[in-house]
Amino acid sequence: MRVLPFLALLVLLNIELLGGVWRYNNILMDEKLFTTQNAVYLKYDGFALIEWEYPESCDINNKSSPNATMICTSTGFQMVKPLVSSPKQEETRHIFISPSTFTFVWYAVMSTNSSTETGYQILRLWIIDPEQADPAEINNTALKPSLQSRYTTKHFYNNGQYPVIQMLTFTQTLLGSFQNDGWYWEAEIPGDKEYVNLYIFGQPVSFQHRLVMDSQRIFYWTEPEPHIGERAVSLRLAPGCPLSLVWGTCKRHHALLLSDTGTLITKNAFLTSEELTVNPGVLPVPSEGHFTVDQAALLEDGIIFRIGGALFWRDNQDGVLTEHPELPTSGVKGLYQRTSCISDYPELDVELSSLIVWKENLLLLGPKRLKTPGRSNFLQIVPIRLPRITILTAAFGSQPSYVATLVLYGYPGVGRQQVVISYNELSRSWVSTFDLEDLPKGHFKMHFLVSAHQALLLWNKESVLYHDNYHRFQDNSINVSHVIPAAFGNKIHQVTWDRRWNMLVKMENNLLYYCKVGMHKLVLLPKWVKPDSRMVLYVNQKDQINMLTLTSDGLYVQNYPMDMEAKSAMKDTHHGCPFITFENNMNAVCYFDKGDKMVLWAKLVKQKYNDVYINFFRNRIDLLSVIEKTFEISTDVDVLKMTFIISQNVDYRDATNYKDLVKKTTGIVAMELIPSQIGNTCNMPKTWVSHISVGCPRNRHIRVARPWGIPCVMYSLNNYTIPRSALRNLQHEDLVVNYEWDTFGCLFEMHYQKPFRPDLVLYDGDNFVRDVDANFIVWERFGRKDYSFNATMRQVACLREAQTWSSMLTEGKISGQVWGPENYQSCFNLAPGKLGNLDETYEIMNRSSTNFLTFTQEENTLYVFNVKVLDPSYSFCDLHAVFAVKTYGIQIPDFEYVTKYSDVVFAFSTICILAYNFFRFVTIFRNLMANRPTF
Ligand SMILES: *[C@@H]1O[C@H](CO)[C@@H](O)[C@H](O)[C@H]1NC(C)=O
Ligand SMILES: *[C@@H]1O[C@H](CO)[C@@H](O)[C@H](O)[C@H]1NC(C)=O
Ligand SMILES: *[C@@H]1O[C@H](CO)[C@@H](O)[C@H](O)[C@H]1NC(C)=O
Ligand SMILES: *[C@@H]1O[C@H](CO)[C@@H](O)[C@H](O)[C@H]1NC(C)=O
Ligand SMILES: *[C@@H]1O[C@H](CO)[C@@H](O)[C@H](O)[C@H]1NC(C)=O
Ligand SMILES: *[C@@H]1O[C@H](CO)[C@@H](O)[C@H](O)[C@H]1NC(C)=O
Repeated sequence: MRVLPFLALLVLLNIELLGGVWRYNNILMDEKLFTTQNAVYLKYDGFALIEWEYPESCDINNKSSPNATMICTSTGFQMVKPLVSSPKQEETRHIFISPSTFTFVWYAVMSTNSSTETGYQILRLWIIDPEQADPAEINNTALKPSLQSRYTTKHFYNNGQYPVIQMLTFTQTLLGSFQNDGWYWEAEIPGDKEYVNLYIFGQPVSFQHRLVMDSQRIFYWTEPEPHIGERAVSLRLAPGCPLSLVWGTCKRHHALLLSDTGTLITKNAFLTSEELTVNPGVLPVPSEGHFTVDQAALLEDGIIFRIGGALFWRDNQDGVLTEHPELPTSGVKGLYQRTSCISDYPELDVELSSLIVWKENLLLLGPKRLKTPGRSNFLQIVPIRLPRITILTAAFGSQPSYVATLVLYGYPGVGRQQVVISYNELSRSWVSTFDLEDLPKGHFKMHFLVSAHQALLLWNKESVLYHDNYHRFQDNSINVSHVIPAAFGNKIHQVTWDRRWNMLVKMENNLLYYCKVGMHKLVLLPKWVKPDSRMVLYVNQKDQINMLTLTSDGLYVQNYPMDMEAKSAMKDTHHGCPFITFENNMNAVCYFDKGDKMVLWAKLVKQKYNDVYINFFRNRIDLLSVIEKTFEISTDVDVLKMTFIISQNVDYRDATNYKDLVKKTTGIVAMELIPSQIGNTCNMPKTWVSHISVGCPRNRHIRVARPWGIPCVMYSLNNYTIPRSALRNLQHEDLVVNYEWDTFGCLFEMHYQKPFRPDLVLYDGDNFVRDVDANFIVWERFGRKDYSFNATMRQVACLREAQTWSSMLTEGKISGQVWGPENYQSCFNLAPGKLGNLDETYEIMNRSSTNFLTFTQEENTLYVFNVKVLDPSYSFCDLHAVFAVKTYGIQIPDFEYVTKYSDVVFAFSTICILAYNFFRFVTIFRNLMANRPTF
């Protein structure tokens, strides 16, 4: 009886082998170019084609050719199918021809004359019509426009078209300048030497009623792998293992493709790849002639291979495989490398880990470099305080600071439980995340999706599960949602996803299932490659799916039009979307300082009576407060708009322990805006989660604005002298100060009689934020005391005696440490106790007050002032700056000469007066003696 299913499988297999597969694409393999202006290339891979079946509104050049070209004149779904002579029918597809008129494309090339020394590359841009472009323009090797493209580009230029270039790592946009001699634009691109990732945006200018599509381009400059020489040994997976892909954490274009015939490495997202081999060094080469690898991780300075239970190091410099002292030599069960870069997260003072290594009951974390790890050991143990644990798998969490692991644990005598626990690398604490009692057994892999709460995908060879601890979607009322029923007799090879939560489950026989993450119902997609091809899916930096097929001739890379395929497969099915559009203004990374306000919004357009709303999720509820507002407009459709006003309700004034309060009220909050229900056909936005860093934004600082009309004098002196009489602390000698131009900046030259109030400006890096309206204090850096302020406490309307330097100082030494936001008390608030003397000098300044600095009237001199913001509720940053003032206007013919001369004159006249007094005294005394009455 057991034979029957086996036979059935054989029959099925036979049909599979007899049947063909067919696929389609356009000339640039771009999903946006399936329009009436562009040809669709149909390709039948098999032997039984009779002819293509296609709609009347389309035309095929040779309907019996397996390589046919189809052009459609009407938009919408077009049913296409190859008619075959074999008993098994081929699959039907509904190719969606879009009504888009964006059918011209920017062509971009880096002119090879890049001068890397100057840090600039020259980018050349022109416009092509993909259907009429030269082959070199299609395969990206053209350096100059073809005749046809020159004509197109020139017309666009004359109509006012120009490109705007936005680099991913650079906030500024760049403009190209048109080169009349070559008919292209050129722009200077400040460059990373390894790769450039940029967007090209055009203007809404049309030619032949068609527009130019915006595009993303990535350029790579790759260095070859070190030459291993004769000792090169290859690295392979165990025989029969399906392909396995590994990519760099922050460099998705660096990747390894492991197979049972060898390992390929790429540094340009598989534009080119080469075999990766190692020099075995002192390691014995296994008898089979290659190393059998289980897993790999791509670090910045080398590659880690798991071979058996040991980890080995292959250095990028020499390609030698070694047992590294920092790596465990036995018992390693698994590796997990962070899959997306932490640059999508607010900047931190500590580097989060990039690698997880686990043994039976030991969890280790490592950074992205091995040789200069930036921590004491490359791998550090994370202690887990649970009894009798077995680590099954591990991954990084939905928020980058979390590390999660699936473990079995139990107290002796009681059965063991299965849970996912998470460790926060920033707070160094564990939380329990999911109880997975009913989890099927088997070797699981896991991955967390970006979210404000943990959202987890778990899969083994048979099933994929989605968990979230917040019931993100309404219909997901149970915590476990079985995404995939095990596909008939086949095993899951790979589960992959893009940023919009499109998920593909790839089976070992190359069948693909599609769904939105978290949906119960899967969609089987038409076959794209033959079941026996060795294929793996790779999501590139543009968030597109590439199919990597390894054949005996080498590696083939194809763009896979996932959206088109999913659309085609879901036509006329029950799959749908509960809303029409969903938009929001979420930004992956935001910074939130004291007093800031931020508005988040989301807009949902839906059919009437559809019961879908917008869910707002966040963690760290204690950090920020939210006011929620809902607007609903009902016309033919319902429009639901929600705004969330984010602010912070913390009073930092007069805090008993300011530093503790700041520590307690800072951190990173994740916020998420998402529809309460989604469906497989929904269009999701690119981002719906914001990570908001509450605290001092990186690079925030203040500068002292140069007063209007005052020149900035630089490098006019090296040092200057402060007479000891002008110093606050008693000293025996005058002080010679070396003027540090880099620190103190330029000299503001001011008339000695003119009072001065510095105006402070807030900057983030080099970007102006706003003028500072907070209270601040000023003190002379080298201890001068010969300056003052021109207002009294009464004049600025103090209600009680204000703080002053003399009241704040305990040891008589002025420094920024003794007075600051942590102990500032405003004199404008009435406090119980004495009023004090309001006629004293007020020493606090503010942009809007009448308190100005006044300088010594005795000589022209130089001050270096420190300035520091005092208001505790102004910013989380320690805002301070330095400015220098040089006074002029006191008329002394020759300053130095006169000082010395006057000293001499003074000394001389003192001596004269003393001498005169002495002689006078002697004379008087003598006279007294002489006139003394005699007794
Ligand atoms: C159409 O394609 C078939 C199959 O490749 C070929 O035999 C035939 O010559 C082609 N016809 C034309 C007109 O090119
Ligand atoms: C179809 O195109 C492929 C390359 O895309 C080529 O290898 C094959 O020979 C072509 N077949 C025919 C019948 O033209
Ligand atoms: C590179 O520079 C050389 C000389 O400066 C010039 O002859 C050549 O045309 C340039 N090549 C490109 C691609 O711009
Ligand atoms: C690109 O096209 C040009 C011109 O047809 C051809 O010479 C070159 O070999 C092609 N390069 C690649 C990588 O296909
Ligand atoms: C002050 O600078 C002058 C040059 O401008 C130099 O000759 C002199 O040695 C410096 N004095 C001190 C004390 O550094
Ligand atoms: C200080 O001097 C400034 C500038 O001359 C003046 O505007 C301001 O009124 C003075 N403040 C007081 C309290 O007199």
